[in-house]
Amino acid sequence: MTQYSGKMISLEGMDGAGKSTHIPTIIGLLEARGVEVVSTREPGGTPLGEQLRDLLLHAPMHPETEAMLMFAARREHIAEVIAPALKRGAYVLTDRFTDATYAYQCGAKGVSSHKILQLEEWVQEGLQPDVTLLFDVPAQVSLQRLSTARSPDKFEREGVVFFEKLRHSYLERAAQFPQRFRVIDANQSLEKVKVLVSEIIATI
Ligand code: TMP
Repeated sequence: MTQYSGKMISLEGMDGAGKSTHIPTIIGLLEARGVEVVSTREPGGTPLGEQLRDLLLHAPMHPETEAMLMFAARREHIAEVIAPALKRGAYVLTDRFTDATYAYQCGAKGVSSHKILQLEEWVQEGLQPDVTLLFDVPAQVSLQRLSTARSPDKFEREGVVFFEKLRHSYLERAAQFPQRFRVIDANQSLEKVKVLVSEIIATI
């Protein structure tokens, strides 16, 4: 794997866990150090990736098609955005990365983890986030928060069984990679979660 001078931070969690709310805080904390911050998201982050995002979030498709399209978007994202930013020493903050594919396409939709691993090795060539913040909430809390969403995408319309599987897969990933993951109990007030997030960012 190429050694980069920058750092990559990924945010993960089920829909409704509240991860995206903390992006401005994280950017502010990092920029206060005088470093360049590239804030991006998956699926998406490039013009082609955003087109794929639209398809992925709305078009019904086989879970393996979904996994491959996620990695197609990710390939573009790494080549166009992530690797160049890391090379010039920037902090890359990405709202989701490959752990989401393991949780959603593998854990919740049954795609073989062996197949995902093959795509991961092909596309990432060893690239991994330095730190992953996992915003953890019970499935019912996610669903309750999403019930007020105005136009839910196809993932947000899934039921409690799907969300339970997602949570289980995410926590399993966190247990598998304890050095990289920081699990945040996001089932508490926004202010308390913000304090936890700030404490973690201070250690990166
Ligand atoms: P977002 O709503 O957090 O921006 O994420 C978009 C949706 O895409 C979310 O429901 C999770 C899903 N997703 C996957 O299913 N697999 C993936 O690899 C990624 C990155 C996202």
